[in-house]
Amino acid sequence: MSKVRAAITAVAGYVPDYVLSNAELERMVDTTDEWITTRTGIKERRLLKGDLLGSSDLGKEAVNALLEKRGISAEEIDLIICATATPDMLFPSTGNLIAHKVGAKNAFAFDIMAACSGFIYSVTTASKYIESGQYKKIIVVGADKMSSIVDYEDRSTCVIFGDGSGAILLEPAEDDLGIQDTIMRSDGSGWTHLHQKAGGSLRPSSHETVDQKMHYIYQEGRSVFKFAVTKMADVSAEIMERNNLTGDDIAYLVPHQANKRIIDATAQRMGVGPEKVMLNIHKYGNTTNGTIPLCLWEWENKLNKGDNIILAAFGGGFTWGSIYLKWAY
Ligand code: UT7
Repeated sequence: MSKVRAAITAVAGYVPDYVLSNAELERMVDTTDEWITTRTGIKERRLLKGDLLGSSDLGKEAVNALLEKRGISAEEIDLIICATATPDMLFPSTGNLIAHKVGAKNAFAFDIMAACSGFIYSVTTASKYIESGQYKKIIVVGADKMSSIVDYEDRSTCVIFGDGSGAILLEPAEDDLGIQDTIMRSDGSGWTHLHQKAGGSLRPSSHETVDQKMHYIYQEGRSVFKFAVTKMADVSAEIMERNNLTGDDIAYLVPHQANKRIIDATAQRMGVGPEKVMLNIHKYGNTTNGTIPLCLWEWENKLNKGDNIILAAFGGGFTWGSIYLKWAY
């Protein structure tokens, strides 16, 4: 019997309405549209405004749209994996909250926390549940309300991040399409360069941690850039090599959207031209676990059955990884 593979059978995305433009950021911090555009490629990003709305509210929108698109009910879902770096609460998991909000009564749910690589880790994990033969319909939802941990007085981070979510449905593949290969890597020594200092068990929240702004993203941009630019390219080239693929074989690279310069370096290393690179960083910034599914959602109409697609990400931890799949519809 041939191996059961997992295929993406539907995609949906959601971004909130509020647009935070570079022009507005110029009025908030000491920055310029020119600096942001040339250093990152970002023009605007979306923010989730309103009280008591969290990443689960972003994720819920994408999952509901996904179910409607595929024409199935929430009760048919076996498992929801939520990739998030900004959970609504430390517990219960945001996946649990999304399952409840969409009415996925028969699903079990959990979160995967791997910073910006969470979506790659989650799709890989979900694919193994499908390959086991025991589960038939799994949703992976990447959802991040990055604005909840961004210091809008820190110009080095507030220009980068945005809020958004994307969801995919994974089902057993037909015709040997779907996920062909995955690579996941991590290196915990990189934690010092990108983290949130307080709010966990190491440094529980206190007046002092709030006063010292320890609940915001701390990033040493230049160090992270150096690792990201090599590791994301390495892991994309590695998955191509071990599957005997050249740039000509690839229909699309779907890169995590952290910085256009990192994306360009990855594409160059893979030998794929800019026309084959999914890019929405100019509109949404870095939505962490939302970037890859939001790209797939926006490019869905251009994809053809059998297309060779590479997903790749690099994030805090450090974490990084790639997925090679054949588009299934
Ligand atoms: O998604 C998870 C993983 N994260 C990443 O992959 C992010 C990787 N890092 C990056 O994308 C880039 O490092 C950043 C976009 C974060 C920063 O770009 P950079 O070219 O590495 O700039 P830098 O941090 O080296 O700073 C260069 C200069 C500094 O001024 P001095 O020290 O040279 O006088 C900064 O203070 O740019 C300054 N700067 C800014 N200037 C205007 C930093 N942020 C801004 C800003 N506007 N918003």
